[in-house]
Amino acid sequence: DWTMGAYREEAIRKIREQVGDAKVICGLSGGVDSSVAAVLIHEAIGDQLTCVFVDHGLLRLNEAEEVVAMFRDNYNIPLIHADESDLFLGALEGVSDPEVKRKTIGKLFIDVFQKHAAEVGGAEFLAQGTLYPDVIESVSFSGGPSVTIKSHHNVGGLPEKMGLKLVEPLRELFKDEVRALGHELGLPASFIGRHPFPGPGLAIRCPGGISREKLDILRKADAVYIDQIRRHGLYDEIWQAFVAILPVRTVGVMGDGRTYDYACALRAVTSVDGMTADYYPFTHDFLGETATRIINEVKGINRVTYDITSKPPGTIEWE
Ligand code: XMP
Repeated sequence: DWTMGAYREEAIRKIREQVGDAKVICGLSGGVDSSVAAVLIHEAIGDQLTCVFVDHGLLRLNEAEEVVAMFRDNYNIPLIHADESDLFLGALEGVSDPEVKRKTIGKLFIDVFQKHAAEVGGAEFLAQGTLYPDVIESVSFSGGPSVTIKSHHNVGGLPEKMGLKLVEPLRELFKDEVRALGHELGLPASFIGRHPFPGPGLAIRCPGGISREKLDILRKADAVYIDQIRRHGLYDEIWQAFVAILPVRTVGVMGDGRTYDYACALRAVTSVDGMTADYYPFTHDFLGETATRIINEVKGINRVTYDITSKPPGTIEWE
């Protein structure tokens, strides 16, 4: 792609100019954005870059292993895999307010990055895969009054507190452009096609209080749901799909016993840039089959609902 080829060269030049010979750490989330940012920056400055993959205990099933393997196998970028799940889950205990969750997680990310910036031998820069929609959504919404809908933890405010300067080479791009750039940089297609995953992870798919028990149930339900979507060949038609575990237990009957387990909501949307979205029109057969599989395969869930809210007025995530 001619445009992306030119963009890549220009971005590399700007990164070199900004960073000089300083060291950079890059927070990898496993998502497309931070991965593309990491590979681009590595092209620009080589081993002045160290990536930090923070496992906050809020990742999907097997995600940490998959991301670390993909980076180790495909790239020679120095990578620190930081298991900080006790730290994050400890701090989130008893927290149910969505903004408090986001801010708690954002603050801990700063702490963890600062620790690793020091270990790497004094990194001066923090690289992030911030996109253009992240920048505008944290300031205003749809041209309306300036209201913060959600605090995206990867935007704004961080560097002053951290003493690290930000490198954000994707700040002018939309998601489809980031995917094109990823393709240009040779990232595996399966990776480029991954659905977006938010920095605060499963915390914002667990409305109300978070517990390890609920997170485990959520991970399993989400894995079954995504497996269904793949089996039916729908993954690439959908912008993003996930399960949210609801803070309510409901009564059910299985075999000849009573159950009293969590309800969950399936979410799937189509979108161009995440700014607006429509719910995905699954067939009733697909929904019925998926509900049956989740209830049969995931202990702890006995009721499945499908979220048919578009954005606006809903948001894609539940919190
Ligand atoms: P919402 O829920 O605001 O989400 O409609 C729009 C898109 O942004 C993702 N999202 C985030 N991504 N950090 C991120 O990196 C965040 O804090 C965050 N919050 C939401 C969401 O998954 C969707 O793709």
